[in-house]
Amino acid sequence: MFDDDFHAQTLSEDGTYTAYSKEYNEHYHSTKDGALQESFYKHVIPASKFVNNKESITILDICYGLGFNTLATLLYYKKYFPQKKVHIYSPELDASLVKSLVNFPYPKEFKEFRSVIEALSTEGYYSEENFSVEIFIGDAREYIKNFEDRFDIVYQDAFSPSTNPILWTREYFADIKKSMHTDGVLTTYSTAFKTRLALYENGFMLYLNRGDDFRPSTVASLSPLEFFEVVDMEHKISCNRDVKSLRDADV
Ligand SMILES: C[S@@+](CC[C@H](N)C(=O)[O-])C[C@H]1O[C@@H](n2cnc3c(N)ncnc32)[C@H](O)[C@@H]1O
Repeated sequence: MFDDDFHAQTLSEDGTYTAYSKEYNEHYHSTKDGALQESFYKHVIPASKFVNNKESITILDICYGLGFNTLATLLYYKKYFPQKKVHIYSPELDASLVKSLVNFPYPKEFKEFRSVIEALSTEGYYSEENFSVEIFIGDAREYIKNFEDRFDIVYQDAFSPSTNPILWTREYFADIKKSMHTDGVLTTYSTAFKTRLALYENGFMLYLNRGDDFRPSTVASLSPLEFFEVVDMEHKISCNRDVKSLRDADV
């Protein structure tokens, strides 16, 4: 059993386990969409559509948590784009969570990553020919400001804006923007107007990602994207004049 004073494992509706954080009073994934499905459908697959022409990609996984987004990325690119070089960087505040993940009941799809999971929870680093993963134990906000390369993909998968607002403010997304290539893409499960507004105020274009097997999510980019339905932000703003994006000073 993975449970401790701060976490309780929970079975989600796709049959994979996620966990409940007693500190944040929130699950690490949507229990309705399922931990593995959420990673694939809201992050890994939509983002992968925009990096076909790149030989090497750099991904920011905000934040490592149980590591589903990172591990699902390895699974997906190893299967469909094995020649592509994939470098994943993932900040995470909770060092003891990362250490405990050797005992997490991961889905059978991650069985082949046993040695990856062990290396990441003990060393915080894993590398092989075309893939590398680096976990940074500390604050994501500081990490982004100091990161020297630029990201092609950002998985924005923090706890919810109401629970962890500091990772959803206008200033936070300004730093995210600076850390991304201009043709980079950001994915998030959040469809909240405040989240979209904070992105829009930083020059991101917003798109709706929807499908039969998951609840809708958001894709954002600084360059126009194909494949997804545009979110008409000017219309939404005109209908929600009183709503403000989250700001650092208020959280
Ligand atoms: C929703 S979970 C991430 C789930 C993860 N993407 C996965 O696939 O398992 C959010 C994570 O953010 C971490 N966190 C919260 N505030 C943070 C901060 N300021 N910097 C880095 N990590 C933070 C929490 O400890 C938690 O593990």
